[in-house]
Amino acid sequence: MRHFLEVDDLSHDELLEVLRRAALPKHHSKPLAGEGVALVFEKPSARTRNSMEMAVTQLGGHPVYIQGHEVGFDVRETAEDVTRTLAQYYEVLCARVFSHSLVERMAAVDIKPVVNLLSDRSHPMQALADLLTLQGEFGSDLAGRSIAYVGDANNVTRSLVLAAGSLGMSVRVGHPEGYGFDDTDMNVLRSSGVEFELTSDPAQAVKGVDAVYADVWTSMGQEEESAQRLHDFAGWTIDAELMSKAADDAIFLHCLPAHEGEECTREVLESSASRVWPQAQNRMHAARGLLSFLIDP
Ligand code: CP
Ligand code: NVA
Repeated sequence: MRHFLEVDDLSHDELLEVLRRAALPKHHSKPLAGEGVALVFEKPSARTRNSMEMAVTQLGGHPVYIQGHEVGFDVRETAEDVTRTLAQYYEVLCARVFSHSLVERMAAVDIKPVVNLLSDRSHPMQALADLLTLQGEFGSDLAGRSIAYVGDANNVTRSLVLAAGSLGMSVRVGHPEGYGFDDTDMNVLRSSGVEFELTSDPAQAVKGVDAVYADVWTSMGQEEESAQRLHDFAGWTIDAELMSKAADDAIFLHCLPAHEGEECTREVLESSASRVWPQAQNRMHAARGLLSFLIDP
């Protein structure tokens, strides 16, 4: 049984295959005809829920959105029994969770493919869309291209580093002191073999790169740290001046939602360098590619 909890659940060749399928026309095939996909959310979502619902529909299937509290992982019954129950109805079980260990437990039941729609550790569906966007910009061979993530080294960062690194991109992560990867993430990233650099200087991070990437400073589940983070990230806003230090034709990416005036300015979001809306659309195409692969590798 194949699961997708993090980008490195796919080999390099499999990742390219998922991206190839993602680029196929949206009504190319209907491998989910007559089947359902469960979309369980413990946290809010605009892009992930809607892109997954439409991707399932385009593949001929029926998406069902389920709020986490309705199934009540470990409240109404164990997470394993929720998983076994949903597996009676659905071909793929997708979940956005607070704790990564929950999607690991669902996958350990190993009864239907489990897809991580964002956890505290990773956001691999986002990373697939990011690669698709980069390929749309720079061509399918991304080797030798460079990307800088600027901000909190978080779930999005970890998946992005694995994804971009897997395709041979040069990856830099610029973060304020104290907001780098924890030991667990560093071990995962180091053992993956991908190459990446860390810096605590935003200008150094973006210098000459082909793409600059932003995410919120305060992720879902960290709301009580918001004031402290606003203070600690002062000087880390991606504005036109910082973008000017990247390559002349550099693009700007953001997983969204954006908090203008914090991690980036409205000017950068709406600049000619910004690809954030194609990137959001690519969530749907990437989801088609991934689901199609999980159903029929
Ligand atoms: N980028 C992303 O996952 O957006 P949502 O939280 O709106 O799904
Ligand atoms: N790092 C953010 C990503 C939102 C799509 C979060 O986890 O809230």
